[in-house]
Amino acid sequence: MTALARTSMDGVALRVADTVGWLTTPLMPDDYLGLINPLWSSRKLRGRVEAVHAETKDAVSLTIRPGRGWTAHRAGQFIRVGVDVDGVRHWRTYSLSSAPERADGRVTITVKAAPDGIVSTHLVHRIEPGTVIGLTRPEGGFVLPQPVPSRLLFVTAGSGITPVMAMLRSLVRRGEMPDVILLHSVPRREEVIFGAELRRLAGRFPNLRLHEQYTRSGGRLSLSQLPDLCPDWSKRGVWMCGPPGMLEEAETRWREAGIATRLHVEHFRPVVAASTRGVGGRVRFLPSGQEADADGATPLLVVGEDAGVLMPSGCRMGICYSCTGRLRSGRVRDLRTGREHGEEGELVQTCVSAAAGPVEIEL
Ligand SMILES: Cc1cc2nc3c(=O)[nH]c(=O)nc-3n(C[C@H](O)[C@H](O)[C@H](O)COP(=O)(O)OP(=O)(O)OC[C@H]3O[C@@H](n4cnc5c(N)ncnc54)[C@H](O)[C@@H]3O)c2cc1C
Ligand code: FES
Repeated sequence: MTALARTSMDGVALRVADTVGWLTTPLMPDDYLGLINPLWSSRKLRGRVEAVHAETKDAVSLTIRPGRGWTAHRAGQFIRVGVDVDGVRHWRTYSLSSAPERADGRVTITVKAAPDGIVSTHLVHRIEPGTVIGLTRPEGGFVLPQPVPSRLLFVTAGSGITPVMAMLRSLVRRGEMPDVILLHSVPRREEVIFGAELRRLAGRFPNLRLHEQYTRSGGRLSLSQLPDLCPDWSKRGVWMCGPPGMLEEAETRWREAGIATRLHVEHFRPVVAASTRGVGGRVRFLPSGQEADADGATPLLVVGEDAGVLMPSGCRMGICYSCTGRLRSGRVRDLRTGREHGEEGELVQTCVSAAAGPVEIEL
């Protein structure tokens, strides 16, 4: 079937669904459509992985055809992806790496395998084209404003290049490349995701300057190098995505320079407070009643997952509130701040809360 024929069939099916809803109650036509083609369901946003492209030895880009209900993204935004691994559905957050202006309606995410990572290793090493995955609509404020500032500084490390790649691709598509400096660090040259494309862009646009820092041979990229690498760093709009330590250091530096509003950061991992050590306790997950011992530093989400509890989750870093449970008894510790709290009935984000003594939580 040609793409055109398939598209017009999709349209017919959706129009039929809209007009015959009353005939099929209590099951909605959407339920039947979802069985024929999972992408037609309007209740559950899904996508089909159409291609898997190796970027480096441990990173891939997945081309996804989003289903009904998808809304266009802004370059730099992220989505949540629901993937079945060994029969269990896991949700994780990934930045979109494609430009919103892409003409075929497909989007890409680019995933680097984290050591022992459940979802990332599955996506990098095992997922097959044709797999249907759960999706959420794009969200997040790590985006360029309109009009785009005339001078930009991007500072990225490892997979932190993905949202910035979407921005660069979008600027290229719109024919509006401003003065850009991109400082990107990775352990070795062969680990640069999008390396060939970045170098090609830097060759094509004289106002796009690329500095690649190979940390194995050249050491860590330090913000003290900024005056050399980007003398006007304090005058630029800055978008930064990398390890938590680098982002915290930057936030302090930009705040102290009185230019905090110029700095935009994207965290891929939660910032954990230094003082999160404390006693844990026995955790009871309701309504199943499953129990597990927790130390005072492990998120309740991980404690539950390790004990085989079906735990809802999304970003796993305190952003999306997909993981909340209602505290029935006990107290928890917020791993981002180290603060203890616990009111009966309080909603608790399990991904950033650890047990502070015995806990009962209802999911
Ligand atoms: C807004 C946002 C955007 C993101 N965009 C991307 C992206 O474009 N590409 C991408 O590859 N990832 C991205 N991530 C990270 C991604 O959501 C997952 O955290 C990552 O893929 C690890 O998931 P996992 O299931 O494999 O690891 P888990 O099974 O959850 O964790 C296993 C181990 O990996 C460690 N770990 C967890 N997260 C990371 C991480 N980010 N890096 C290194 N080690 C980690 C854990 O500490 C743990 O030891 C993004 C995260 C956020 C919040
Ligand atoms: S999983 Fe997103 S806030 Fe906990």
